[in-house]
Amino acid sequence: MQRPPFPRIPAGFPTHVKVVEVGPRDGLQNERQHVPTSIKVDLINRLGRSGLSAIESASFVSPKWVPQMADGHAVMQNIDRVPGITYSALTPNMKGFEGAMQAGVDEVVIFGAASEAFSNRNINCSIQESIQRFEPVALAAKAAGMRLRASVSCALGCPYQGEVRPAAVRDVVARFANLGCDEIDIADTIGVGTPRQVQEVMDAAASAFRLDRLAGHFHDTYGQALANILASLEVGVSTFHSSVAGLGGCPYAAGATGNVATEDLIYLLHGLGIETGIKLDTLVEAGAFISDALGRPNASRVGRALLAKHTNLCGTSD
Ligand code: HMG
Ligand code: MG
Repeated sequence: MQRPPFPRIPAGFPTHVKVVEVGPRDGLQNERQHVPTSIKVDLINRLGRSGLSAIESASFVSPKWVPQMADGHAVMQNIDRVPGITYSALTPNMKGFEGAMQAGVDEVVIFGAASEAFSNRNINCSIQESIQRFEPVALAAKAAGMRLRASVSCALGCPYQGEVRPAAVRDVVARFANLGCDEIDIADTIGVGTPRQVQEVMDAAASAFRLDRLAGHFHDTYGQALANILASLEVGVSTFHSSVAGLGGCPYAAGATGNVATEDLIYLLHGLGIETGIKLDTLVEAGAFISDALGRPNASRVGRALLAKHTNLCGTSD
């Protein structure tokens, strides 16, 4: 008797998950030390060889606000573009959109918040004003035939205001849906959410936007990211953001750590029998590369475990 292709996938879970690698942007934007453009380019090229289909590669924001992302144009111009990979960048306004267009970005990302306080700190305007700023960006992206993605920060809690209600998340998701977004992610910027809460918020978001176009963007500050991803899979979410080697944090959310590590996410998904098209070994090498280049410990537990296993077997880690 022929066995079903993915016997272990729990009922109701997606059989394929799209992973959006955000390390080169969300990860590196928060590095205190200057990261040379050549290292960013090398990282994106390594990630491009792992089978990822989406890499968030740059930000076209004010260099005064986020100096680390000031070289977005040079990064985009120097990477080896792999056919089939969507290279995206953050664009908070038309100035950012124009920069992204000139640099050859495939997909632009508008980013708002479900918390007024965070919106003001992060992009210097209210939620309502941010939507007004995003409108021309959305129109321009559609006119240029570009994909448009949106991110809802502080969907599970805010560093300034505390609790965020699912209805507030739904409201912002509905506004982004009206702008014609192709994909919207629900972001736990400070990593405070827990699984049942995540399901409640995902359900609220799914009442305003297609579930198959919703994504989870989980920072791992409180160690809940993988549990929250499992909870999201349970309610049918099939796109997740992650950072190789668990890079990152947010410059406007003190103490927030990086996103869930891509290596850990892939290990979980493959363990569940869910297809991703991604080669874990290549990712682990990319994670080791960037951790060495930054001189910081690798924050991926799977990355560390597989590198240690390799060292034990081969007597070398390279
Ligand atoms: P503002 O000061 O309110 O804007 O900033 P402004 O229009 O008054 O412009 C002020 C100056 O910035 C001017 O320059 C503009 O030219 C310049 P000056 O005349 O003073 O020399 N400027 C720009 N320069 C380059 N690119 C641009 C741009 N726009 C204006 N696009 C703004 C508003 C949104 C620009 C600013 O607040 C900003 O850049 N903030 C940075 C936000 C950011 O990147 N945050 C981190 C990423 S979000 C994140 O990590 C969360 C996420 O991962 C999901 C999650 O986890 O929650 C996505
Ligand atoms: Mg983030």
